[in-house]
Amino acid sequence: MAKKIKVAIVGVGNCAKSFYEGVSFYSDNPQEKIGLMHFKIGGYSVSDIEVVAAFDIDERKVGKPLHEAINAEPNHTIKITDPHPSKVIVKRGPTYDSVTEEAREYYIHESNLKPVDVAKELKESGAEVVINYLPTGSDQAASVYAEAALEAGCSFINCMPAHLARDPKWQKRFIKKGLVLIGDDIKSQLGATIVNRVCLELLKSRGFLITHSDQTNIGGNADFLNLHLRPHSKEESKKASLNSILSKDDAVPVARLVYAKKNFDHKRTSIYITGEMFGGISASVHALIDDEDSPNSAGIVVDAVRAARVLKETGKIEHTPEISAYLMKAPSVQLPEADAYEKFQKILK
Ligand SMILES: NC(=O)c1ccc[n+]([C@@H]2O[C@H](COP(=O)([O-])OP(=O)(O)OC[C@H]3O[C@@H](n4cnc5c(N)ncnc54)[C@H](O)[C@@H]3O)[C@@H](O)[C@H]2O)c1
Repeated sequence: MAKKIKVAIVGVGNCAKSFYEGVSFYSDNPQEKIGLMHFKIGGYSVSDIEVVAAFDIDERKVGKPLHEAINAEPNHTIKITDPHPSKVIVKRGPTYDSVTEEAREYYIHESNLKPVDVAKELKESGAEVVINYLPTGSDQAASVYAEAALEAGCSFINCMPAHLARDPKWQKRFIKKGLVLIGDDIKSQLGATIVNRVCLELLKSRGFLITHSDQTNIGGNADFLNLHLRPHSKEESKKASLNSILSKDDAVPVARLVYAKKNFDHKRTSIYITGEMFGGISASVHALIDDEDSPNSAGIVVDAVRAARVLKETGKIEHTPEISAYLMKAPSVQLPEADAYEKFQKILK
């Protein structure tokens, strides 16, 4: 039987809830293929993932077992299944730049416990992969956790837009230690980014000039309040992902993030693209996506965790950027979606 892939979670928010419930669900239903982008990766199933450590700073989560912490306020994303009981107790991580004043009102009640030594906790837990689910904008905190992962000998999956996997210095440091750094910023299973990219790729491959490209994301969870307050890095990673498809004559893509109402993990995205086709005649595409935001990201992270193990095990760490191109919005190398998918299959088969 395959050895378990031991992971640590940084940030026990809505995405962590979907991830942990998803691992519980596919472990209870080992033949279930629906909803998975890959049933097996290098021989590993979702049930081979085991969470062995977790960090948060919210007093409603710190000190609780993981299966309780994922359901503590203000996590409200849709339930996948009853999570497996967990012996992992959520530890108090270091705060740095991860809390805005607005978030303190409801979304984060900062614990007054002393932060633990993250590297030491990681080593003691036996974690080999760290999943970074910090709020967007916590760039300093993200570096601190990445540093701890390096010290503890863990690979790192950066699910938020802090510049880590895109930064050659961080990449080199992980590679030098034989570790994998996948990132940055998850490209959800059916998210605005992938649908927008596929629409633009289609129009560009069919001779269009893009005259307008607009994406509006409306949501209402902790992440959306934070994105509304600190939109810069998310908008940058969304735009980078779209710009890589366009040429200089095409209109610059616009991506907006709108905070709707408290405790609403449902997301609605509208994408509106206009272009000029044969003879300069105009045509447009209008797409609407309705989804639950957090499970949409967990479907990617269960692949990223298994990819990290397989890249390391098969000595293919130098192929991490292509794997990130498939899974992440802002990888160090952007590839057309079909190429990224093909490379993922080939590298990790
Ligand atoms: N589809 C998606 O949901 C999606 C897609 C792409 C990227 N992301 C990114 O993933 C990240 C997580 O999203 P989420 O919806 O789970 O957010 P969330 O706000 O629900 O969860 C963040 C968690 O981090 C905790 N936290 C804050 N500072 C911390 C610190 N210093 N140390 C440890 N924990 C800390 C918070 O208390 C909270 O529990 C965000 O950056 C988001 O932008 C999400």
